[in-house]
Amino acid sequence: MKRIVLFASGSGSNVENIIRYFHGKRNSVDVAAVLTNKRGSKVLDRCNNLNINGLYFNRNAFYETDCVLDILKALKPDLIILAGFLWKMPKKIIQNFPDKIVNIHPALLPKYGGKGMYGNHVHQAVKDNQETETGITIHYVNESYDEGASIFQAKTIISSDDSVEDIAKKVHTLEYEHFPKVIEKLLSSPETAEKEVPTPPKEG
Ligand code: GAR
Repeated sequence: MKRIVLFASGSGSNVENIIRYFHGKRNSVDVAAVLTNKRGSKVLDRCNNLNINGLYFNRNAFYETDCVLDILKALKPDLIILAGFLWKMPKKIIQNFPDKIVNIHPALLPKYGGKGMYGNHVHQAVKDNQETETGITIHYVNESYDEGASIFQAKTIISSDDSVEDIAKKVHTLEYEHFPKVIEKLLSSPETAEKEVPTPPKEG
């Protein structure tokens, strides 16, 4: 059975969606653990409710020692999934897991990426620039924020009436629909990972 480890910094609604997706597929993929850098975060509550290993780590464990790296080595994941994880991955973890770390970004990279571009900051920038569409990018992680090779993008239409919260909701809908399927596909055949950008649905 394939095994994944998830990283999250926030509410963890994507984490829960991914876990439920694979539960619904008779646990075809084992979610070995969810790791978070936020003590007391909602994602740990979700892990408790779903009977999934939930682990908190601090900066020392991540950047100054091999603690998190050693946990990952012991878990032997086929993929490491960043689902709303906001710290930069240390070089040593990236080097130990080449092409095995995948991030989701709530915009159409290369637009609206980089340091400080996360969550509602991204959606606010998209709104401020009066974009007519936004979306999600699922990509491999390298040593620069949001610059690893793109795996999948999906778009959604937005209007000037949409609030930042409306945009966030549309983006989350795309994330819930596509992220688990892209992970599943990568686990079954990484070389056939899509590079497609589906046409946005017509409004109305
Ligand atoms: C998601 O929208 C994800 O794309 C974004 O954080 C949100 C986490 O939501 N990630 C980034 O902004 C990374 N730069 P969740 O905690 O409800 O899954």
